[in-house]
Amino acid sequence: MTQHIRTATLNGVATIEIARPEKKNALTQAMYAAMAEAIGAARDDRAVRALLITGQPGIFTSGNDIEDFVQRPPQGEDSPVFRFMRALLECDKPVVAAVTGAAIGIGTTMLLHCDFAYVADDARLAMPFVGLGLVPEYASSLLVPQLMGHRKAAEKLLLGDPMTGAEAVELGLANAVLPPAEVLPHARRVAERFNALPPGAVRDAKALMRAPQQAQVLQVIAAEGEIFTRRLRSPEAMEAFQAFFQKRAPDYSRF
Ligand code: COA
Repeated sequence: MTQHIRTATLNGVATIEIARPEKKNALTQAMYAAMAEAIGAARDDRAVRALLITGQPGIFTSGNDIEDFVQRPPQGEDSPVFRFMRALLECDKPVVAAVTGAAIGIGTTMLLHCDFAYVADDARLAMPFVGLGLVPEYASSLLVPQLMGHRKAAEKLLLGDPMTGAEAVELGLANAVLPPAEVLPHARRVAERFNALPPGAVRDAKALMRAPQQAQVLQVIAAEGEIFTRRLRSPEAMEAFQAFFQKRAPDYSRF
């Protein structure tokens, strides 16, 4: 278990906290593995009625660790990132996200698979995959256009335009926008409400809400994953990653 993922269960709520502030909570393979394990443990624990995913004050996550993308690119369905997203997708208990600051890449993608998302007014959500030579992931190419229509989705997925907390609510990606200090307590209160609800009915209702398009979601994830994995090794992505490390803008003029 990496020290960058902290877990705690309190009053029926299993909290998964991303804690790597020195790297803006960038997610490594070890962190995905720890989060997959934590979701599995929360599912199996009868005392847990809901899960809460959060980051640090002022940063949810800067997305996948870009060095990891280069050194240890995910290899298929057994990779930790895939196991994390599958655990989230298959989680039969309600999942609440509390987001302050940036939620980049998978930081925004994972919100699509949480049941509730509360965001700070300083939140900045972005899915800059195309700008990195990559493609949307984990069914965001299906779910984002469904949520906001093709035109808005084109701004967010093709141009990679960021969203404020208020815009995320307006576009259906989040439930409510709050002052930063109130996001986590509010999200916790929502999660704790499940202590007063019958867990079997909650589980069945969540499954029914997801069932109609589950097969399609899985099919899209597989298709995206294949292209994403291939594109990670593309010259376009290499230019993007080098530009990030060299702290310069990428130059795609030769492609
Ligand atoms: N992967 C690896 N390292 C990352 C990272 C990531 N996704 N995001 C930030 N870091 C590192 C930086 O390299 C820097 O490391 P250093 O101190 O050793 O130089 C440190 O975290 C602080 O980041 P910095 O960019 O200086 O912070 P900031 O407050 O100016 O900006 C962000 C914060 C999140 C806006 C910015 O870091 C960013 O855009 N990160 C990349 C986001 C991204 O493209 N993610 C991939 C999505 S698929």
